[in-house]
Amino acid sequence: MKTVAKTPRRLVLAAKRRFQTRLLKWYAAHGRDLPWRKTTDPYHILVSEVMLQQTQVDRVLPKYHEFLARYPSFEVLAAARVSDVQKIWYPLGYNIRPKRLHGIARETVARYGGQLPRDAEALLAFKGIGRYTAGAIRSFAFNEDAPILDTNVIRVLHRVFVARGDPKTQKSKLWQLSEALIPRGQGYAFNQAIMDFGALCCSARTPACAQCPMKTFCKTYPFVRKARESRA
Ligand code: ADE
Repeated sequence: MKTVAKTPRRLVLAAKRRFQTRLLKWYAAHGRDLPWRKTTDPYHILVSEVMLQQTQVDRVLPKYHEFLARYPSFEVLAAARVSDVQKIWYPLGYNIRPKRLHGIARETVARYGGQLPRDAEALLAFKGIGRYTAGAIRSFAFNEDAPILDTNVIRVLHRVFVARGDPKTQKSKLWQLSEALIPRGQGYAFNQAIMDFGALCCSARTPACAQCPMKTFCKTYPFVRKARESRA
């Protein structure tokens, strides 16, 4: 049987620390100025995250403003007709989302007096809030060090720290990594940063490896470099 050389624990720890510091530094210089980063209102964060679940930032931006102008609170949304909510949402596609969001608003008003709960278990009990969205709400609205794992984060963590196997089959390991990497008390900035890093630097098709602050310890970079050298 082929044995796989293991990376010593202290090297992994050093890489984690370097990743945290460099990511936050990169974010301070390159992070996007997005409207849902100017609020901690749980309702606004929820609306943005549900919209962003399947839709690109550029397409979400105008709809986010339009939606909040029309439905400014859980109460207003809960009182609306679901068919009207679906109509305004329609251009974003995936029409189960407005229905789910409407259901969350109704439940929040009925069971929690219009205040979204902050603990993971209560959030996960809502239809339409999965592990990613619960982590996003906890970190962005309630400033908790809660992990997130979406397509961008999976790609970044798998490339930098794993580099082998199919990332889709390694979710549990990647969730653990996402949690372990959060610098204490900085869940908000770290999670926003890793999402921008995945969208702008460690992107799916054309990653900017040459400018990447992680390339000195990224586990995938040596393969990228070799491939580029052999093409040159
Ligand atoms: N995608 C999902 N949530 C996001 C956020 N808060 N910022 C940028 N992209 C995102």
